[in-house]
Amino acid sequence: MGFRRVSYLKVYAIFCTLFILYLLTSEWENEGSILKHNRKLHKEIKKLKKGCTSRGYSRDYQDSDEADPIYLITPTYARLTQKADMTRLMYTLMHVENLHWIIIEDHEEKTELIIKFIERIPTNIQVTHLNMKTPSMDKLASDDPNWLKPRGVQQRNAGLEFLLEHFEENTEGYIYFLDDDNTYDIRIFDEIRKIEENQVGVWPVGIVGKLRYEGPVCSNGEVTSWFTAWKPDRPFPLDMAGFSFRLENLFDAPEARFKQRIPRGYQESHILTELGLDRTNAVGLANDCRDILVWHTRTEKPRMDAEEKLMKATGAASDLSIEV
Ligand code: UGA
Ligand code: MN
Repeated sequence: MGFRRVSYLKVYAIFCTLFILYLLTSEWENEGSILKHNRKLHKEIKKLKKGCTSRGYSRDYQDSDEADPIYLITPTYARLTQKADMTRLMYTLMHVENLHWIIIEDHEEKTELIIKFIERIPTNIQVTHLNMKTPSMDKLASDDPNWLKPRGVQQRNAGLEFLLEHFEENTEGYIYFLDDDNTYDIRIFDEIRKIEENQVGVWPVGIVGKLRYEGPVCSNGEVTSWFTAWKPDRPFPLDMAGFSFRLENLFDAPEARFKQRIPRGYQESHILTELGLDRTNAVGLANDCRDILVWHTRTEKPRMDAEEKLMKATGAASDLSIEV
């Protein structure tokens, strides 16, 4: 009997030891595989970081807490492609630090579509939502050629007035007029942050002025000539997307505004002249004006013929409660 109890106990003790050993080793294995996985992840992150920093342009400005804000002034108006254009722009701006996006609707009131759109903008982008309707006599009719009247004039002025009202004279920052349908490479924002007071940073813009690109030709940061096919004698023969300047310059010339009735193609030259800047203040950026970092893309006006056809044939077209 005594012998039996002892051997039962032995078997039980051996079983327990083996079970504990099994538990321990499986835990080690688990830990081992987690460590291995962690190491793999770290390697992957390192590789990705390296990829981010080795693409030519310095990301120093982006990483620094000191980066001065860039105030982006964007006029926008209701049309079928508005949400698509603004969404694309938002996804570009999400990658840039310290931006203040001033969105000015060409509308008598703030629209539901843009209010809801703004709710989706990540909070690292500061947003100001304004509205300013272009008076009907200054507005292009839908069948007018687009060169007949300048666009976004009153809205950009509303943006400038907002800055003058809400910021102090010595606020550091940059102003860039960002149209809602252009295409921007985020490296342009690093270039903008190189601009000093009393300088107008300039660079070529792609696909504009019926050319592959248009804008300054530079050597060692100095603008040596301007490449344009149209009105080369303008004080600044460049596109709205092809320049930026410091906020201080607006405070030095607080009356500077865009103007509705000036010759075609002179909006850019007009505002820069009003700011007291001329060609001698121009500094060539974007790899000595050799990199195209902004394109004057334009979203095609969509045809809606099938909506009308469906309506005529069946009495019902697309569901208007679905926002496009
Ligand atoms: C070109 C320039 O790139 C613009 O910066 C310039 O304002 C315009 O010409 C002009 O001549 O006024 P373009 O593509 O022809 O640009 O102009 P749009 O993109 O149609 O308009 C420029 C900005 O004004 C856009 O952000 C647009 O949303 C806005 N806009 C346009 C309005 O706020 N209201 C309008 O009725 C039309
Ligand atoms: Mn445009």
